[in-house]
Amino acid sequence: MTTPFSLTGKIALVTGASRGLGFAMAKAMAEAGAHVVLNSRDQAALDAKAAPLQTAGLSVEAMAADAGDEAEIISLVQTILARHGKLDVVVANAGIQHRATITDFATKDYLRVVAINQTGPWLLAREAARAMVPRKSGRIIFTGSVSAILGRAPISAYTASKGALHALTRSLAADLGPHGITVNSIAPGYILTEMNTALANDPEFDARIKAGTPLGRWGAPEDIGYSAVFLASAAAAFVNGHILTVDGGFSSTM
Ligand SMILES: NC(=O)c1ccc[n+]([C@@H]2O[C@H](COP(=O)([O-])OP(=O)(O)OC[C@H]3O[C@@H](n4cnc5c(N)ncnc54)[C@H](OP(=O)(O)O)[C@@H]3O)[C@@H](O)[C@H]2O)c1
Repeated sequence: MTTPFSLTGKIALVTGASRGLGFAMAKAMAEAGAHVVLNSRDQAALDAKAAPLQTAGLSVEAMAADAGDEAEIISLVQTILARHGKLDVVVANAGIQHRATITDFATKDYLRVVAINQTGPWLLAREAARAMVPRKSGRIIFTGSVSAILGRAPISAYTASKGALHALTRSLAADLGPHGITVNSIAPGYILTEMNTALANDPEFDARIKAGTPLGRWGAPEDIGYSAVFLASAAAAFVNGHILTVDGGFSSTM
């Protein structure tokens, strides 16, 4: 049965999809009917994650590329276009973290975070938009963060890059809306993934997250996966330039 939440017939690309939130978004979109290209830098890891989805009858494929590298992003998008003739949905999700107080933060670490978290998504949005504008349709989704809404130490490069994505969401919504393309961000709260292993293993931090979240728990990757399906689907046709916080109420309460 086709519902407004169906992604049947859509070609989608998710970067950073070998694990964590990217994998959950890719899986949820494939379950909703899309053909999903899973990307990360590691082809073997991607193949291992794609195989069980294919066995389960989902339409997915794995394409390794560095989502912080211009030439590799262009080649990734061109390969998808050559193979499938179009690109309907792009989720610029690949991201990295670096923790250091600003007085100890090396410039090379700042630039590495910004290249992957901020410049890469801008480049991917540009390449996707070049393919989407002639078709007058498309969905671009960034993975932002509640840490771009509420300040937190010691992750200044990360918060700066995610804040830039939130601003880019609004700017590109204005730029691409007239072409029938929506641009939105998901701002996850604290979700249990590899990126947060150290935090989740710290009993004090774990207790703080549970106490500060009205729903009393960490988020699960699936919480983000289903939000991506919504933003990619016809159900979200009039949602544009929006930062969708998915954080159990963490950033809405005190
Ligand atoms: N987990 C949270 O609580 C949380 C909260 C807010 C926002 N976020 C954001 O959500 C996104 C996913 O986070 P996560 O928790 O799922 O992280 P994760 O578990 O560390 O996964 C990161 C993914 O990105 C890939 N990746 C890293 N650098 C890449 C690059 N240059 N090119 C292509 N792929 C790359 C990784 O694969 P390879 O290393 O093999 O390439 C992996 O698939 C990030 O943008 C993160 O900032 C996460």
